Amino acid sequence: MPVIGVIGGGQLARMMIGPAVELGIDLRVFAETVESSARDRATAVGDFRDVDAVLAFARGVDIITFDHEHVPSDVLEALLAAGVAVRPGPSALAAAQDKLHMREVLADLGLPLPVWARADSADDVTRFLAENGGRVVAKTPRGGYDGKGVVVITDASQITEWLAAGPVLLEELVDYARELAQLVARRPSGDIATWPVVQTIQSGGVCAEVILPAPKASQRLMDAAADIGRTIADGLGVTGVLAVELFETTDERILVNELAMRPHNSGHVTIEGSVTGQFEQHLRAIADMPLGSTESRQPWAAMVNVFGAMDTDRYGHLNDQSGVKIHNYGKEPRAGRKVGHVTTVGTELDDVVYRARAAATIFAPAN
Ligand SMILES: Nc1ncnc2c1ncn2[C@@H]1O[C@H](COP(=O)(O)OP(=O)(O)O)[C@@H](O)[C@H]1O
Ligand SMILES: [Mg+2]
Repeated sequence: MPVIGVIGGGQLARMMIGPAVELGIDLRVFAETVESSARDRATAVGDFRDVDAVLAFARGVDIITFDHEHVPSDVLEALLAAGVAVRPGPSALAAAQDKLHMREVLADLGLPLPVWARADSADDVTRFLAENGGRVVAKTPRGGYDGKGVVVITDASQITEWLAAGPVLLEELVDYARELAQLVARRPSGDIATWPVVQTIQSGGVCAEVILPAPKASQRLMDAAADIGRTIADGLGVTGVLAVELFETTDERILVNELAMRPHNSGHVTIEGSVTGQFEQHLRAIADMPLGSTESRQPWAAMVNVFGAMDTDRYGHLNDQSGVKIHNYGKEPRAGRKVGHVTTVGTELDDVVYRARAAATIFAPAN
């Protein structure tokens, strides 16, 4: 079995640990701090931009993968030069690191996108506003997450500071019926597995709930979402799991919002909801093992995020909720911080969603 090194010690790295143990993979983590979520497997603590520190970590590691997409390309190239497999590879990661580049890559693949443009000046913004109904979405190309770096604007003056720092991505304000996400895994040999498309519910730009499969999804919609996932995985030669965030319009069209080149919040529901969860599948894919079945174990699964604090004293309150699965990311409490999630599965959609929401409320009564 290969030795796998994960750069970044957040909850995604933490949730790879269990499946790695089960598969017999030696998983090592390059963590930001000794308090990082995945600290139990941290064999190095440091700055992922520090080439020497990352190379030292990678000694004895066969395959490098990621908890986040922010590792700079010079570090990735140094790893490749040192003979380490980097999965996903630098060009696939680049498509997820910069939202302007992402839009170009997705457009080249012929995928359905919201109307978008690059703005270098206030004049560019004013023109795009005039052509798109006077209300549009502006995004910083790099470094945004959980809705940070995304703002609805009606005037160029609202993003003066962003424009001073560099180009800005502009998009039409999509009047979507709901948001979906397509999870896909691809191994180096080219085999691809897709999960049924999920529905995601954002609150303030942050993923709050996920339902597997997306309720009332027609076969046509499921096929279209899976095709988009396959096109991206193949087109970019991705190895590992990737998530495609989608908008479903009121007339059942789908548009691609953005990509995550790694396991993703929208895929946590697959841990209990599917025969093979996204973290196990990611490890299988990057290790070039046969991919596992993505079939659901039960008709429905729901995941609800817990924000702020996940107080273990409150586990006792779950006495009459024995079907709830708890994921505690081991993070220090902080207002608004994603600190865990709960998942339920079952045969009745309403019951599954209700139980997951109730359990999340037990841990974070203030939300
Ligand atoms: N063009 C758009 N039209 C309408 N809503 C959008 C648009 N782009 C993003 N959003 C909303 O903002 C959220 C965050 O935007 P996204 O680009 O996914 O950034 P992040 O990197 O923070 O996840 C989306 O999940 C969606 O709810
Ligand atoms: Mg997003």
